[in-house]
Amino acid sequence: MPAWRLRDFHEDDLDQAVLVWDQSRPPGEQLPVFPVSEVMAAARSGQPAVVAVAGEELVALAVAQAHGERAWVLLIALSARWRRRGIGSALLAELERRLREQGVRRICALLPEGGTGTQALLNSGYGGREGLVYFEKVSHGGAAEAGLLAELGGREQPPGLWEALAGMEREKEVVERRIVLPLAEQELADRYGVAPPKAVILFGPPGTGKTSFAKAVASRLDWPFVELFPSRLAADGEAGLAASLRDVFADLAELDAVVLFIDEVEEIAAVRSGLAVDPGHGVTNELLKLIPGFREHGDRLLVCATNSVRSLDPAFLRPGRFDYVIPIGPPDPVARAAIWARYAGRAAAGVDLDRLVAASGLFTPADIEFAARKGAQAAFEREVLHRQGRPAGTEDYLSAIADTRPTLTPQAITEFEEDIARFTRL
Ligand SMILES: Nc1ncnc2c1ncn2[C@@H]1O[C@H](COP(=O)(O)OP(=O)(O)OP(=O)(O)O)[C@@H](O)[C@H]1O
Ligand SMILES: [Mg+2]
Repeated sequence: MPAWRLRDFHEDDLDQAVLVWDQSRPPGEQLPVFPVSEVMAAARSGQPAVVAVAGEELVALAVAQAHGERAWVLLIALSARWRRRGIGSALLAELERRLREQGVRRICALLPEGGTGTQALLNSGYGGREGLVYFEKVSHGGAAEAGLLAELGGREQPPGLWEALAGMEREKEVVERRIVLPLAEQELADRYGVAPPKAVILFGPPGTGKTSFAKAVASRLDWPFVELFPSRLAADGEAGLAASLRDVFADLAELDAVVLFIDEVEEIAAVRSGLAVDPGHGVTNELLKLIPGFREHGDRLLVCATNSVRSLDPAFLRPGRFDYVIPIGPPDPVARAAIWARYAGRAAAGVDLDRLVAASGLFTPADIEFAARKGAQAAFEREVLHRQGRPAGTEDYLSAIADTRPTLTPQAITEFEEDIARFTRL
């Protein structure tokens, strides 16, 4: 193995630092007292932060924060392969040197029992104190959280969105059983050994209701909903994209509960081209790296939606990242009838739903919504002109259907069926 050396933490180290941190914590370990966002904020604001590198690879890091004469070691992380070489102690010695220069006299650290760094602290002359209990009070949903949520463009979803999804019984049942129930009944799920889902993919043709499902789940859980638009991430080139993705995830870590929705995820997780310089590759990697950290927090659900599941990077689809890969739509005749009934509104009672269902074979829910509005508009305009008191009728909707180009094609449906066979994981 190559030799290692110490140097200052740089902004560019963030990626690797988070990775080493993730890997240095045994599964099931207590959440750290100092969360990743706090540690990285300290490192970036010039608090003592030192890394160990072997060649290009970052293998360990330690970060501290000084307050007057006291300092806290916020983090000691060490990649598993590089344990037992004195790197931890060397990092501590370097932190200590800097802290003493600032006038710090008492340095303390708070680790999970036996956590990474314990040996380094003991070897460096730190004494453990037994019998202390760590108390903590975190304000949930306070002004800070509301501010953060607003900054992220997040919002609480109104109740009733789930009920507003008409038809789609198959999809609703899957989403209800696999996603909503285990998250809404976490204690019961836990008692039965059901791990609540942390990340899911919804795929299907445009307009079948993927976004609506994600919002409806947030509404059911009463968790805030944050949507991340790949195209709106600060696009300062590849590196800028990765960095803004990271910032969003760091901010999310501060929220109490959240449904994070990434629409058109193929934009940032498309299959790698295999070219030496592959546009998008860095961002895909970034997202892959961020998912494990996201999965560690409670009360979190990542929902990624795509119209093109086949173009996603296979690494992205691997089990362990996403708990379920769920197809959404197109609506079958029963679902179309329910959706027509919903959008024909008060007129529905007098409308021949069967004919509308038959005429709208390749329609998505979004197409039906659109055609229903067009039918209602035509009836309304007729009424303004003629004042006959005639509500929107079957003919109005049928001509609206004739005027609406369906989103689906037989080929798209065949492809979707192939995708269902290949990618669905429930
Ligand atoms: N089951 C449903 N019942 C009633 N309306 C629906 C249903 N599904 C979708 N819609 C409506 O169709 C429109 C499109 O739905 P949505 O945006 O959720 O689809 P999508 O799959 O996310 O589409 P895209 O792939 O284009 O992002 C929305 O206005 C939504 O209200
Ligand atoms: Mg959508």
